[in-house]
Amino acid sequence: MNIAIVGTGYVGLVSGTCFAEMGVNVTCVDVNNEKIEKLKKGEIPIYEPGLEEMVLRNHREGRLKFTTDITTCLDDVELVFSAVGTPPDEDGSADLTYVLEVARTVGRNMNKHLVLVTKSTVPVGTAQKVRAAIQEELDKRGVQIPFDVASNPEFLKEGAAIKDFMSPDRVVVGVDSERSKELMTKLYRPFLLNNFRVIFTDIPSAEMIKYAANSMLATRISFMNDIANLCELVGADVNMVRKGIGSDSRIGSKFLYPGCGYGGSCFPKDVKALVKTAEKKGYVMKVLKAVEEVNEHQKELLFHKLEKYYGGALKGKTIAIWGLAFKPETDDMREATSLVIIRLLKDAGCKIRVYDPVAMDECHRRIGNDVEYAVDMYDAVLNADALLLLTEWKPFRLPSWGVLQKSMNRSVIIDGRNIYDGKELRQLGFDYYCIGQ
Ligand code: UDX
Repeated sequence: MNIAIVGTGYVGLVSGTCFAEMGVNVTCVDVNNEKIEKLKKGEIPIYEPGLEEMVLRNHREGRLKFTTDITTCLDDVELVFSAVGTPPDEDGSADLTYVLEVARTVGRNMNKHLVLVTKSTVPVGTAQKVRAAIQEELDKRGVQIPFDVASNPEFLKEGAAIKDFMSPDRVVVGVDSERSKELMTKLYRPFLLNNFRVIFTDIPSAEMIKYAANSMLATRISFMNDIANLCELVGADVNMVRKGIGSDSRIGSKFLYPGCGYGGSCFPKDVKALVKTAEKKGYVMKVLKAVEEVNEHQKELLFHKLEKYYGGALKGKTIAIWGLAFKPETDDMREATSLVIIRLLKDAGCKIRVYDPVAMDECHRRIGNDVEYAVDMYDAVLNADALLLLTEWKPFRLPSWGVLQKSMNRSVIIDGRNIYDGKELRQLGFDYYCIGQ
């Protein structure tokens, strides 16, 4: 089977590589020539465990190709996946410029039936616009070529994307023709051996599922953060509360971890976009608005804890930060809590020393020399008046407390991910604060 994937960003590259791994001939297309040339040489633009090796192997074995010119493969493919970006525009709505440009390019160049499958997260109703854009181009050419559109949203987690793709909980496919249903079934059949389900729906429902799933997960996190903050006020321990409620099978134990706020490329963007979609229809998503508000507050929480500890006197203090990425196993800092904390510390006149196992270059690219970049995690805490833990990377989980005590100016730890044993740390003489305990 031959397919094309337009957009070699996170979703496009992981999807293309995983389809190739299952024996599909995949052409990955991107307008960025530099990116394509690098990919041809085996240079991967993102950090994702296991991806590089898989790209290299499938490229070498000829199943994975890279090009800037979609016309070179359009006559050979049955499916074209669109995995281009949908950045939020000024009002939080998803910007469809790139998605519709792909549709127009396909319409201008196709010569036989194909299905344009949207993988990007797009608002409900986008498939109709994609269909209209293709049709408009065909009309301009004065040709009649049958085509279909479909929606196949992605549920990949950064850092676990390969595993999520190869053995997903489910695959959602929105279709409105038997022909596209057959083609999508053929494509996903090899994955079915891993015993997951393909859920076929109509197209608007598939588009909605992605937003609803991410919004639900974001809601769980904000809900738990709210509960955690209340636990602190009433003397309860959110970890115990989490276990207690998570053992109810209707609630489930996953995704109930309170922390210093959710970030990343999906949750913040998708929650905002769904609120916006509703607004355009004259409906107010009250729960989701609160989810967003709680998250904004939660991202600032560690700063306020620190401020309280020092009675507001933060000017001139040296603050160490462990973890810059929005979560472990990625260098992604989109909407990361670290960016909010760094801004607040900076405004308060602190000196900031940061360390992250992989996101140091990314941080430098984003904020330059506003902070000091430590060579390792212990270097970061040198003469620090407090350590803020923002991302629960594995190397941070069991540090040498003795080294910390010797290096730090004052043994204060504010743990934004509840990874340390507070009792142990207090016994060792640390002033330790975390979330919801
Ligand atoms: C998410 C969805 O999980 C995925 O299905 C979707 O396709 C894209 O968005 P991702 O953004 O990679 O994936 O990150 P995820 O692992 O879901 O974490 C998102 C944020 O929530 C992180 O900042 C994380 O620290 C936070 N989080 C997660 C919590 O604060 N508590 C939790 O219990 C879980």
